[in-house]
Formats: sequence, C-alpha cells, structure tokens
Amino acid sequence: MLPVFKKNKTPVVLAPMAGISDFVYRRVCMEHGCDFTYTEMVSAKGLFYGGAKTRELLRVSEAERPCAVQLFGSDPVIVADMIKRIADEFADDICMVDINMGCPMPKITGNGEGSALMLDVPRAAAVMEAAAKASALPVSCKFRKGWDEARANAVEFARAMEASGAALVTVHGRTREQLYHGPADWEVIARVAAAVKIPVIGNGDVDSGEAAVRMLNETGAAGVMVGRAAEGNPFIFDEIRAALDGRGYVPPTDYERMCEAVRHAELFLAEKDERLFPELRKHMSWYTRGMRGALELRR
Ligand SMILES: Cc1cc2nc3c(=O)[nH]c(=O)nc-3n(C[C@H](O)[C@H](O)[C@H](O)COP(=O)(O)O)c2cc1C
Repeated sequence: MLPVFKKNKTPVVLAPMAGISDFVYRRVCMEHGCDFTYTEMVSAKGLFYGGAKTRELLRVSEAERPCAVQLFGSDPVIVADMIKRIADEFADDICMVDINMGCPMPKITGNGEGSALMLDVPRAAAVMEAAAKASALPVSCKFRKGWDEARANAVEFARAMEASGAALVTVHGRTREQLYHGPADWEVIARVAAAVKIPVIGNGDVDSGEAAVRMLNETGAAGVMVGRAAEGNPFIFDEIRAALDGRGYVPPTDYERMCEAVRHAELFLAEKDERLFPELRKHMSWYTRGMRGALELRR
C-alpha cells in the first residue's frame, strides 16, 4: 500500500508550491492534520549538475514525514538517474517521488518539461517508465487537464502514466493555458478517476472543508490536494479533516492566527539564514490578510 494511504483515511495533501511549501511550512501544515506533503519542484538537471540550491530544496525533516520529492525533467535517463540517487540518499526521509508534468511556466515548458510533457505523451510515458524502473520508491506524477481546451487529454495521459508504472496521479483541473485562472474543472478529475485503477488525487479550488467533501463526492478521487487556500492558512487542514470526519469546526481567532504566524517565523529563523527573510515575509502577510491593522504590520 502506498505510504500516503497508510493511515487508512482519505489523504488531505499540501500541494507542491515553489517558493512556498518549504520544509518549514510543510511541518506547520503536518501539525495541522495535513497527511502528506511534497517538496517544491526540484530540477532533475539541476541535481545532476550538483547545484547547492537545488539540494537545499531536498531537505526533509523528520517532523514532516511522509513527504514526496517532486522532480521536473523531460530526459528519461537523467530523471531515472536522479531518482536512483534520491532513493539511495534520502530513503529514510521520503516515501515517493513525483514528476511534475503540470508546471505552466515558459522557462520550464520551453525545455519540454512540466506541462509541455502533456503535448508529448510518448516522451512523458518514457520518463515515467524509466523513473518507475529505476526507483525503489513509488513514482507518481502531477499534471493538468491538458495544454488547452482543444488538447484536454488528461484521461489519455493518465492511462499512459498508469501503463508506464505510475503508482498514483494528481490531476489539477485547469489547462496550461488557464495557468491558475478560472474555476478548476472537477469533471475531468472524475473522468480520470473512472479511467484508471491507481489512486487519483484531485486538485484545484479546494478551499474549505465543504469543498473537499464535495470534490471527493463529485469526482471519486482518493484524496484531495490543497494549494493556494493553504497560503497563510495551515488551519485549512484542521477544517478539512473535521469535515471529512463529520465533526464541527471552529475557525481560529485572529489571536490564534497570529500565534501560528509567530511560531512559523520562529521555526523559519531557527532553520534558515536571515537573508532568506523575504521568503517568510509573504507567508506573514498571508497570515494577517483581512485583519485589522494588517497594513501597518506589513509595513
Ligand atoms: C506559487 C505557486 C507555486 C507552485 N509550484 C508548483 C510546483 O512546484 N509543483 C507543482 O506541481 N505545482 C505547483 N503549483 C501548482 C499547485 O500545486 C496547484 O496545482 C495549483 O495551485 C492548483 O491548486 P489550488 O487551486 O488549490 O491552488 C504552484 C502553484 C502556485 C500558486
């Protein structure tokens, strides 16, 4: 059984978010009932050439297990090689390797990586097959509805990934063309979940306990992934868990939010260099969103 399902409950997962879901924030989310996290995306090529920054992204602490490493790359040989290395070196820290097949950024897609792999299903399948063969750990991938509405091939893509050895897939119900705009299409998640036997995690617009329950009911997904709704809001995991368990939920007071923000800042400063403070600043402004006096505080 995949580690993500070990707790024998529907997993509620923190989305990989570059520049946001670092090991400090992942830990904060785990403390709020998140079941499973991913590292920010890590370049397979960057690892191959030994970048120190890239390696820092692989830092996973005991407090945030289980955690999956997310890689991006489009060269089957390099991806497989890096997975082997990661599995050897970090075997105790991580439980799965995920391949990013959904990133929309031109600097990624321009190299045929991220969501560009959805335009080249044979290459994506070759990457998955090489990765799954090389890895002692389960390999998953995360992709979108498709490149655009005319090429919304998530179902075909999911089938190809399953046939190539993927142990799990995550579907973000937006096309690459949409980036992060417009509502996520949950119907496509339902179609993928019906088309494959491996577990499917649904992603896109899960921003409350009610939305998580609705997504699970409407799509048949095995779990839900939360992205932007977790920004400055690790409490979303408590809320979703309560909704899934049929319990009531009392949202945190502003005071409790501030206490969590301070704790996050303390963990950050204990682990990271002060020069990285700008990374923390955006988290702090998210925690205080909508609070009286937030503007003065941010200044
Ligand atoms: C700032 C930011 C960074 C992201 N970085 C990644 C990433 O590194 N890997 C990835 O697979 N998705 C990444 N995503 C996409 C999210 O994982 C998720 O699919 C997307 O935000 C949709 O979910 P949501 O509607 O719950 O936000 C990122 C999204 C945002 C907003």
